[in-house]
Amino acid sequence: MSPFSRSAPGDPSEPRFGEPVEISVDGVPVAAVPGQTVAAALMATGRDSWRTTRGAERPRGVFCGIGACFDCLVVVNGTPDVRACQRTIQPGDAITTQAGAQLPTRTGAAQPTQHSEALSFEVVVVGAGPAGLTAALAAAETGVSVGLVDAGRAVGGQFHRQLPTEFAARRPERLQHGWARFVQLRDRVARHHRITQLAETSVWAIEEIEHGHRLWAQTGPADAGRRGVRAVDGRALVLAPGAYDRVLPFKGWDLPGVYSAGAAQALAKGQRIAVGQRVVLAGTGPFLLPVAESLVGVGAEVAGMFEANSARTIARGWSSDPLVARGKIGEAAGYAGLLARHRIRPRTGWTVVAAHGDRRVEAVTVAKLDHDWRPIRGTEQQLEADAVCVGFGFTAQLELAVSTRCELTAGPDGGPAVRVDEHQQTSTPGVFAAGELTGIGGADLAAAEGRVAGAAAARFVTGSEAVLSQAHEEVAKGKRFAAALAAAHPVRPGWVEWSDDETLICRCEEVSRGELRRAAADRELLPGRSLKLSSRVGLGMCQGRICSRNATCLTSPDQNAVVRNEFNRPIAVPVRLKDLANPQEDQ
Ligand code: FES
Repeated sequence: MSPFSRSAPGDPSEPRFGEPVEISVDGVPVAAVPGQTVAAALMATGRDSWRTTRGAERPRGVFCGIGACFDCLVVVNGTPDVRACQRTIQPGDAITTQAGAQLPTRTGAAQPTQHSEALSFEVVVVGAGPAGLTAALAAAETGVSVGLVDAGRAVGGQFHRQLPTEFAARRPERLQHGWARFVQLRDRVARHHRITQLAETSVWAIEEIEHGHRLWAQTGPADAGRRGVRAVDGRALVLAPGAYDRVLPFKGWDLPGVYSAGAAQALAKGQRIAVGQRVVLAGTGPFLLPVAESLVGVGAEVAGMFEANSARTIARGWSSDPLVARGKIGEAAGYAGLLARHRIRPRTGWTVVAAHGDRRVEAVTVAKLDHDWRPIRGTEQQLEADAVCVGFGFTAQLELAVSTRCELTAGPDGGPAVRVDEHQQTSTPGVFAAGELTGIGGADLAAAEGRVAGAAAARFVTGSEAVLSQAHEEVAKGKRFAAALAAAHPVRPGWVEWSDDETLICRCEEVSRGELRRAAADRELLPGRSLKLSSRVGLGMCQGRICSRNATCLTSPDQNAVVRNEFNRPIAVPVRLKDLANPQEDQ
């Protein structure tokens, strides 16, 4: 059993795939669909791993599915370390599976395009999800020039992930929630003469300049060997980079076939790929519902759905704000109907505590949890599955905010977030933040915060007044939802018992829990830089995005400690040294 691509006949989105194009995988010709990512093209052939790690040669494939974890690296046309989930195939691409760390070949070492002139805007918005889009529009409507920077090929972020235009879907709205509203916003942004969209542009550093900030960015296909390098200046910044799934470690969680819930969603919704035929879904939070919907939508069987919080905790959490709960009844009823139609019976107070298999997932162990999420001995059950998808909330992408010296605080779920005032102004003058960056609260809150942040950023530049009472009301409403969400779906500390000393905590550097514990105990190291250097936890390609928060929880008495230097990455995303050196000389 293995991942597969949903066939077009019967697909509710009615895709019209173009003529297949030929690529090669390790020298063998493979037919791929135009618009597919490298990961989707590989998974459509049934593969779920295509790389081995540097240390123990562990197999790796997609894990996060959104470019955060760097598990899915491949060599494309001689360039190593290309994230397969981010790179769209081109006819004739030569894909090579990657063993450990590889150097580029001559063909992969093309010269990057240098843009010697910095682009300059009054407001620069980073991230084109729900918060970034509304921020860009709100700022532009006050009369300022706006640069909208996003790493993706299309706007919308993770929430409004769309099918590639190459799929030519007749009914894309059937895979989306709130599609009409999104399309209206997307089109207004695209048509606005004061907004310049910079797609496929990833920001790797921000520095202060005389009148604002300079963003250093790379442009072009993800991780290509010849990405353009350019500077983008803004007198005010709105940071809205979003968040990535939080996955808690358990025995076997680094086997191919274990995915974040967001990866399953991204592959299904954005590429029509099912991560497996018989899939187990586990975690906490309402996000599991659309993931289940997406999985059945691509033809996977959801063999089990496990919400770690008890029904009592969930009910008490949502009923803490009856107004919020009432507003979600219709949506909840829709999902209940979907689960019933597909005979999916979610179990509350249960989770996956181990994945088993020889180089890929073949089965999982689930167990009932006590109030603190400790597995209750004797309740373990084994289920056959070829994929397991897990998600325990989200972690905000804090790197750019930390590099602009924004103060952090605890978000509603206890996770790290950027501190903002009622105008979404951070502690750094001229830097505003919106969306999941200021606390996990969903798309509606993100959009409302974006409106406030965009208008406030424009006001910072022009000194004019902005009337925002309605957006402020929507922010207040969204914050009530975020608080109820956190109360209904807390992460309890007993998860630390799901792993043992052999379990990897840092997937990139292959640091086990035992090694981490010994490093912390031997030298009495506290979470942070010294523990990183001593154990190598967090020093891999993902720069600690996947492991740092968990490592902090495992080594700190305070599970919600906000450790600022976890997110302190002067280079926010990995950049090839060659690309990094040249533009500095030009400026
Ligand atoms: S998991 Fe990537 S650096 Fe630890």
